[in-house]
Amino acid sequence: MTTEPWRRGGRAAPSLELLLLLLACVVACSIPVVRAQVTMFTGTVAGRDITSFSFPWFDQDLIKQSNLTFAGNTSIGSRSLQITPDSLNNPQVYLVNQTGHIFYSTPFVLWAANASNSTPDGRRVASFSTVMKLNLYRGANTSVKGEGLAFVIASGKDGGPPPGSYGGYLGLTNVSTDGLPTNGFAAVELDTVKQSYDPDDNHVGLDVNSVHSTVTAPLAPFGIELAPSNATATGGNDGSNFMWIDYNGTARHVWVYLSPNENKPATAVLNASLDLSKVLLDNKGYFGFSGSTGATYELNCVNMWNMTVDVLPGGSVPKKKLPGWKLGVFIGVPCAAALALGLLAGLYFMKKRRKQVGDDPSSVFNNAIDFRSIPGVPREFDYRELRKGTNNFDEKMKLGQGGYGVVYRATVAGDSGQSMEVAVKQFSGANTKGQEDFLAELSIINRLRHRNLVKLVGWCHDNGVLLLVYDYMPNGSLDRHLFGGKDAPSLDWKQRYNVVAGVASALNYLHHEFDQTVIHRDIKPSNIMLDSSFHARLGDFGLARALESDKTSYTDKIGVPGTLGYIAPECFHTGRATRESDVFGFGAVILEIVCGRRISCSNPAGCSQLLEAVWRLHGAGRVLEAVDPRLGGEYDDEDAERLLLLGLACSHPNPRQRPKASAILQNLQTRSVPPLPVPASKPVFMWPVPLGNGEVEEGEYGEEALTSMSHSGVASSDVTSSSHYAYASSSGCTTQNYPVSRELHDVAERDVSTV
Ligand SMILES: *[C@@H]1O[C@H](CO)[C@@H](O)[C@H](O)[C@H]1NC(C)=O
Ligand SMILES: *[C@@H]1O[C@H](CO)[C@@H](O)[C@H](O)[C@H]1NC(C)=O
Ligand SMILES: *[C@@H]1O[C@H](CO)[C@@H](O)[C@H](O)[C@H]1NC(C)=O
Ligand SMILES: *[C@@H]1O[C@H](CO)[C@@H](O)[C@H](O)[C@H]1NC(C)=O
Ligand SMILES: *[C@@H]1O[C@H](CO)[C@@H](O)[C@H](O)[C@H]1NC(C)=O
Ligand SMILES: *[C@@H]1O[C@H](CO)[C@@H](O)[C@H](O)[C@H]1NC(C)=O
Ligand SMILES: *[C@@H]1O[C@H](CO)[C@@H](O)[C@H](O)[C@H]1NC(C)=O
Ligand SMILES: *[C@@H]1O[C@H](CO)[C@@H](O)[C@H](O)[C@H]1NC(C)=O
Ligand SMILES: *[C@@H]1O[C@H](CO)[C@@H](O)[C@H](O)[C@H]1NC(C)=O
Ligand SMILES: *[C@@H]1O[C@H](CO)[C@@H](O)[C@H](O)[C@H]1NC(C)=O
Repeated sequence: MTTEPWRRGGRAAPSLELLLLLLACVVACSIPVVRAQVTMFTGTVAGRDITSFSFPWFDQDLIKQSNLTFAGNTSIGSRSLQITPDSLNNPQVYLVNQTGHIFYSTPFVLWAANASNSTPDGRRVASFSTVMKLNLYRGANTSVKGEGLAFVIASGKDGGPPPGSYGGYLGLTNVSTDGLPTNGFAAVELDTVKQSYDPDDNHVGLDVNSVHSTVTAPLAPFGIELAPSNATATGGNDGSNFMWIDYNGTARHVWVYLSPNENKPATAVLNASLDLSKVLLDNKGYFGFSGSTGATYELNCVNMWNMTVDVLPGGSVPKKKLPGWKLGVFIGVPCAAALALGLLAGLYFMKKRRKQVGDDPSSVFNNAIDFRSIPGVPREFDYRELRKGTNNFDEKMKLGQGGYGVVYRATVAGDSGQSMEVAVKQFSGANTKGQEDFLAELSIINRLRHRNLVKLVGWCHDNGVLLLVYDYMPNGSLDRHLFGGKDAPSLDWKQRYNVVAGVASALNYLHHEFDQTVIHRDIKPSNIMLDSSFHARLGDFGLARALESDKTSYTDKIGVPGTLGYIAPECFHTGRATRESDVFGFGAVILEIVCGRRISCSNPAGCSQLLEAVWRLHGAGRVLEAVDPRLGGEYDDEDAERLLLLGLACSHPNPRQRPKASAILQNLQTRSVPPLPVPASKPVFMWPVPLGNGEVEEGEYGEEALTSMSHSGVASSDVTSSSHYAYASSSGCTTQNYPVSRELHDVAERDVSTV
């Protein structure tokens, strides 16, 4: 992704930029296709009377509407139905033995007696077809999965999952009701745990009134693995599958198809006869989902759902075409994104401008934007609830304090009423700045999804106080474990290696896998959280800006131990965070993790003691002497050397010589590749940064001053994309002012390209 044409364009008058931006927004939002996204339809198609509905994704607002009925520990998150909880909190409390039901609230008439052109038994049964995208996803502990998710046609939706229906009962039945005809349901199950009656732990089955399937089909022969252990929560391989279910009411037969992509395969994974008129207790049926976890767990998510059902003569069907759901909710993504970014840019610009003319920056938040109207934002919390949940922000509930403000632990009600533990981050200085950071953070974080990122649960804004609500991380931040002193729990070697690998994976996601390049800008141990299984979760994206207020200078931050060591040397010149500067910060973190020492600096000039010490040992061929003595020799020599060399490679003073996050990840995962080459002594930092071998690049690292480049589209996205994101582009690492217009250009460019 590159923004060449705009980035380097002339600096037009600011008002013109704003105008262009608004124009882009208006154009984007008035495209008719956006309005055409009707989500329910009743009418005649190809001679058949049908009703169809479509959920391209699931927004939080659906919880408040009555179109879907939720029961058990269900919720909407990450734009998906979460049939069982999606939580990073203690799995033994929040994830095991859970059940959930989500049904489309309106029933459909699925068979009729005495219908015209009826069949021998006098009944006519409706046909239907449906397609859904399902994501069965392993949680914190990737060595477990379970239990499964089912698409259900049920006589009633009331009551929710029966008591005791967790585990192998998939939320459908329990030990006393399994198999009873009074259950009145049929279901297609995707099962990831082998019970005694199951063929394996990766199968599809047709369940009629019982979880002992009438027909099952193992999925391995079709090349499908449910809840694969190596799914990455990113676009390509997140472990999702599309499932099509076609039911022919005339033939009274059902076909099930599965595919990892949107192309329906020719061959069904399962087909079976099914007479819904004999299964259902009356002639109506509800469509929906049921799922469960047991001693083992996974996330059971529905990402999208389309359904088309035949309308039977006499079926009580609304006469007129239903309008789409609340249009405001279902405006198209491009439009919403354009609008959000446009507003963001607008706010940003207005604020900057005010500063330029010396005005007091007042709250832009209150009057400028209605957050609730942006689709897909996390839940908004009531301030009173957070105050209550933190015992009125009691000192005892304090988890930590950073440059941005204070973090509290809180207990709040989850989406379906259960209590859950969260971390609440209270922004300080919310009256002067922070609001735009807040906006930036929200609009991006809620779209990021990766197992090594801290999940944002919700937010709250009250009277100038900004609060972000995150999943609670029971093991706190990494720095506590590395530098917490004698009494602090220390991490063993395996845990340390996993933390490095986890952060690398998150970084690779942010830099290369997410649809826009996101720069973290503040990678350091206090921003790396540990979940209950000691897996790393990167937090605080976008908050770097909150830290870097205009008046802050490096010297102000000497009191914050270690901060300087994570700042790449070129940042002092470019004033901009880049992917390369993120990698530099990561290098420092790797060295700290392996050596158990802070990168530590007491003054800007001498802030590389640890780095230099490790480099000297490397030059002397004794790099393993740098390993944390607290490990007592309990580590793998080869792995330790790999990590130390990786740490040095990432700390290369020349940003162009640092490895990319993708290469880092590969180096960590495939241990068979050789460690990265590292010069025997630490190269000196040079400015402007020398070009690599034969590279022809735009001047990102200082050449501009020397050579006047013509900015044609010689887009080397590696270097240029660093400033793509509004929140990624500002000075995560500097005090210098940067041109605002560039950001506006970037944002405008993105608007145009996403529409
Ligand atoms: C969804 O629910 C709203 C009320 O909350 C209702 O007006 C609308 O008709 C429903 N739409 C469908 C497709 O059921
Ligand atoms: C939801 O989960 C919580 C925490 O495990 C549990 O106490 C509660 O019983 C669950 N509720 C339902 C309806 O399963
Ligand atoms: C989950 O259910 C199993 C089987 O009923 C039980 O042994 C286990 O203690 C339960 N675990 C929790 C955390 O409730
Ligand atoms: C179907 O027809 C039978 C006899 O023709 C009648 O007794 C019965 O009430 C009818 N049922 C319905 C639902 O119309
Ligand atoms: C099974 O579910 C029914 C309600 O559907 C409930 O009455 C019964 O107590 C449950 N049995 C067990 C063993 O939980
Ligand atoms: C995940 O593992 C499966 C085998 O279990 C393999 O076929 C697939 O290529 C792996 N995917 C990735 C992205 O590593
Ligand atoms: C359903 O089955 C009937 C009888 O087997 C067949 O005539 C009809 O074409 C099928 N309908 C569809 C949509 O496949
Ligand atoms: C239905 O499944 C059976 C095996 O159960 C298979 O032999 C048959 O080819 C399948 N038919 C279709 C149309 O998929
Ligand atoms: C779901 O329905 C919508 C609207 O009819 C359509 O655009 C989309 O392609 C469908 N999705 C799938 C996977 O068939
Ligand atoms: C993951 O689950 C397995 C099987 O239940 C268990 O043996 C292992 O200790 C768990 N690992 C972690 C890190 O919790």
